[in-house]
Amino acid sequence: MEKKNIDWANIGFGYMKTDKRFVSNFKDGKWDDGQLTSDDQVVISECAGVLQYSQSCFEGLKAYQTEDGRIVCFRPDLNAARMADSAKRLEMPVFPEDRFVQAVVDVVKANAAFVPPYGSGATLYLRPYMFASSPVIGVKPADEYQFRIFCTPVGPYFKGGAKPITIKVSDFDRAAPNGTGHIKAGLNYAMSLHAIVTAHEEGFAENMYLDAATRTKVEETGGANFIFITKDGKLVTPKSSSILPSITRRSLEVVAEKYLGMEVEEREVYFDEVKDFAECGLCGTAAVISPVGQIYDHGNMIQFPSGMDEMGPVTKKLYDTLTGIQMGRIEAPEGWVKVIE
Ligand code: PLP
Ligand code: COI
Repeated sequence: MEKKNIDWANIGFGYMKTDKRFVSNFKDGKWDDGQLTSDDQVVISECAGVLQYSQSCFEGLKAYQTEDGRIVCFRPDLNAARMADSAKRLEMPVFPEDRFVQAVVDVVKANAAFVPPYGSGATLYLRPYMFASSPVIGVKPADEYQFRIFCTPVGPYFKGGAKPITIKVSDFDRAAPNGTGHIKAGLNYAMSLHAIVTAHEEGFAENMYLDAATRTKVEETGGANFIFITKDGKLVTPKSSSILPSITRRSLEVVAEKYLGMEVEEREVYFDEVKDFAECGLCGTAAVISPVGQIYDHGNMIQFPSGMDEMGPVTKKLYDTLTGIQMGRIEAPEGWVKVIE
């Protein structure tokens, strides 16, 4: 497969139009067969549910070229399952999970020339999404929906790749205790835009959101879960019913325990104890693991001993093992890697 002529090493996390995307429509109570199309435009009613009441959800996953030339995808079944949870919570029809995985495979195959070469530092990001396409004017779920998957080659989510970032404790809330924080609803991201623009204007890379009810516990950032490393080398991750159950974080918990022999704790993390951790990172499909060097909290800067120059040593081990599994250098647990071709 001849690759596209792209400067792989220097692409950022942005959108680039690729050759094919998958589209399926839900009408009269059922999904059609769906198809790959070259058409990147979406035409819907001016009164479509997604435009009026934001009835939409999405997923994000990556395809990788391995050292031996295969193209693989990381745990797409978990994205399919999470999208089913998102759809149910938003009163949308579930796109069947087996068809979701098949559509991922079809989109990657049809765009194989866009899968960045092994070792380039870039990957192919897939964006499955679903939205209400038929008109609604009273507040209710729409009757018709569209499910699509496009893909785009991407580089690092944060400028500087693996360089530690500085984040701030946000005064805005991301998710209500019984709201939609645990699903991947587009509306969660719309309401985070003002907070992220404000953080960027102030010179911070991301926001740390606290729990909305008490503002004493760590939740997550706008697009990634937290990982913390204690001074005695344990992995600690915040537990909350209003954070997105990150597939990367759940995978890292297994990597830490089974591959690195670490102790793992998934529990409520109080903001007051953050200053005592040795290392901190953000984890997610887009973020992979981005080290956090410092956290700004209303005039006070929490500085982790790992510093601002490089990833902490334990975070680095987690990063190397996870990306080793994803890129086929390290044997993956059963079912984690879906070989596309
Ligand atoms: N948290 C939020 C709010 C996200 O948007 C994402 C990205 O998908 C994550 C966490 C990380 O999840 P995952 O590891 O499944 O990509
Ligand atoms: C992902 O990691 O796939 C996400 O959806 C995060 C997004 C904010 C880019």
